Amino acid sequence: SNKKIGIIVGSLRKESFNKKIANYLMQHAPEGYQLECIEIGQLPLYNQDYDEGNTPQSYSPFRTKVKNMDAIIFVTPEYNRSVPGVLKNAIDVGSRPYGQSAWDGKPAWVVSSSIGNLSAFGANHHLRQSLVFLNMPTLQQPEVYIANVQKLFDEQGNLTDEKTGKFLRDTLSSFIAFAKRFDKL
Ligand code: FNR
Repeated sequence: SNKKIGIIVGSLRKESFNKKIANYLMQHAPEGYQLECIEIGQLPLYNQDYDEGNTPQSYSPFRTKVKNMDAIIFVTPEYNRSVPGVLKNAIDVGSRPYGQSAWDGKPAWVVSSSIGNLSAFGANHHLRQSLVFLNMPTLQQPEVYIANVQKLFDEQGNLTDEKTGKFLRDTLSSFIAFAKRFDKL
């Protein structure tokens, strides 16, 4: 049966470059792997009171969807040198109620991009800090930092830079090989 890999994008923008990277990965899923986008824009801001009741309707399907994934890919921009609030909110929602984290033990891959040269390094590494606490074994190498991302796509949103395409496809394979290790022992 197909293994399921969830993709979470840290931007809600319609023309988001990170969404375009995520779409490229979804279009290049290897045989036997299903890559599926997990939406986060519908999640109200997390409030710990919700753990005691009146939980927003969208929380439960989101948590269930994450739990049903065998692995998670994060594709994110950087906002003010960190993870966009919308992504951090999704991480917080998925992590609660205490002791029922949807993220626990799921292998993760972090892809970051920016329209400048720095490639969202700050967001990439702040995200990794949360993944340590969430007990998500994260692909270490190769790291994926995509610079000047606006230059890599055509008007239709297709990736036109084959060097980047090959790097993303190869690293997706590396991630799958990495994630498979966690079923071994
Ligand atoms: C940005 N941007 C940005 N870029 C960067 O490299 N480092 C940063 O700290 C920030 N900070 C930042 C804050 C806010 C509020 C916005 C809206 C933008 C620019 C960012 O890289 C650019 O908008 C990307 O296009 C965002 O990614 P998507 O939406 O194209 O996926």
